[in-house]
Amino acid sequence: MSQIFRSVSDSETVLTELMIPSYANFGGKVHGGILLSLMDKVAYVTASKHYGGYCVTVAVEGVEFMHPVEVGQLVSLKASINYVGKSSMIVGIRVEALHPKTGEISHTNSSYFTMVAKNEAHETDRVPGLILQTETEIRRFYEGMHLKILSKQKREMLKSDFSSLSIEDITPKLVHENCSLRY
Ligand SMILES: CC(C)(COP(=O)(O)OP(=O)(O)OC[C@H]1O[C@@H](n2cnc3c(N)ncnc32)[C@H](O)[C@@H]1OP(=O)(O)O)[C@@H](O)C(=O)NCCC(=O)NCCS
Repeated sequence: MSQIFRSVSDSETVLTELMIPSYANFGGKVHGGILLSLMDKVAYVTASKHYGGYCVTVAVEGVEFMHPVEVGQLVSLKASINYVGKSSMIVGIRVEALHPKTGEISHTNSSYFTMVAKNEAHETDRVPGLILQTETEIRRFYEGMHLKILSKQKREMLKSDFSSLSIEDITPKLVHENCSLRY
């Protein structure tokens, strides 16, 4: 069977949502969790359009909130497929907040959601290849290849290195940190 390829524009998605008062935290700004939930939603829509079926969120990289989001702002989440592997897809998401009265737009954060395609038996499934039509798409794909390798290295590092270190090796390195050892 010949492999299917889809272009980035086939699955590009923009989700816009008004920030209502119930989204606010005690400081009057929008909860980070609200934005994460919207990001997960737009990542799902983008990945499932590319795959043509059900997907799950596997990993999130690079979430940093650079500016607070205010109640009353219109938040737009622009998502596209940056990279595809065999069953995984990296969705790049740019979040912008528009102040409707002033027209001012701030870039609040960007991040990368790794989504995996699942078939009806809930097994991982092969995803269509990605057609790269612009320099940006080529760069993003290449960046995604590196992100996949880096995130694998990070997982391996967290699994092995730290658990194998003895507490006696670790404690001297905490001397200038903001903690009090009562071990
Ligand atoms: C993630 C999951 C699909 C991996 O299943 P698996 O049988 O171990 O599959 P594989 O090891 O073959 O990995 C499948 C793909 O996921 C990628 N992957 C697996 N774990 C990953 C991780 N932690 N971070 C990024 N990518 C990951 C692999 O690189 C692989 O990509 P490729 O097919 O494009 O090469 C499985 O653990 C799962 O279903 N997790 C639950 C996801 C879920 O329910 N999410 C919702 C949270 S509420």
